[in-house]
Amino acid sequence: MRPDSARIARVVTGMPATDGAGVRLSRVIGTPQLPDLDPFLMLDEFGTDRPQDYLAGFPDHPHRGFETVTYMLDGRMRHRDNHGNEGVLVPGSVQWMTAGRGLVHSEMPEQQEGRMRGFQLWVNLPARDKMIEPRYQEFAPERIPVVRPGAGVEVRVIAGQVGEMHGPIDQPATRPVYLDIALDADARWDYALPEGHAGFVYVFEGEAMVGAGAQPLRMQQLGVLDGGAVVAMVAGPGGARVLLVAGRPLREPVARHGPFVMNTRAELQQAFADYQAGRF
Ligand code: FE2
Repeated sequence: MRPDSARIARVVTGMPATDGAGVRLSRVIGTPQLPDLDPFLMLDEFGTDRPQDYLAGFPDHPHRGFETVTYMLDGRMRHRDNHGNEGVLVPGSVQWMTAGRGLVHSEMPEQQEGRMRGFQLWVNLPARDKMIEPRYQEFAPERIPVVRPGAGVEVRVIAGQVGEMHGPIDQPATRPVYLDIALDADARWDYALPEGHAGFVYVFEGEAMVGAGAQPLRMQQLGVLDGGAVVAMVAGPGGARVLLVAGRPLREPVARHGPFVMNTRAELQQAFADYQAGRF
């Protein structure tokens, strides 16, 4: 094992939760067990074949002070905001939405039946960027590079760099890495994160051994990375599919309530006042 190997400091299992108008999901970050993982504020996995679990969707709601990242695996979701932006997320697409000073949007399933599966990650913004104009970085599946850095390893590079390949997401504040890694049975891959990044590995299919000490992670378990930049992973006998997500920690005070994430209570109160006055 290399001396700069990361290890898994903690293992966290997602908790059943509902959000929006009653969508059932598994919350992995943003729970009492793991309230945040600087710079990440929340990770939800939604995955169901039952329309009653997702049909209600996420009707109009505000955001201010951070970014929401939606990665669809199955199903179609239409988003629409109060600034006139609208689009449909299809399987394999990514929407990296910088809410900045604020917007009101809805995220509604564009299907009546079938499978809906994907992730929503919340990424914090530094104090200096919390009130910037909202911005979307949205990419169809064919715009997400796929690399094969080793035998039995296939990586979708949403953000960050693998070899010479850069993911399409641009966010200099946290320099995020967001990789969707498919490992064949017993396949192995080592990946070096940028120095100083904090992050996690989340297994969403199969099983993998991760980090120094080969910590086993089952499906729907997240391992918090610590102690080194090189993340080693080996799939179990049935293969694995894994998210590796990391970013530069902001190390700033966090004042959060629902869809607003600021630095101070006063800024939070201002967010509520601005929202109620229709200033989003
Ligand atoms: Fe939202």
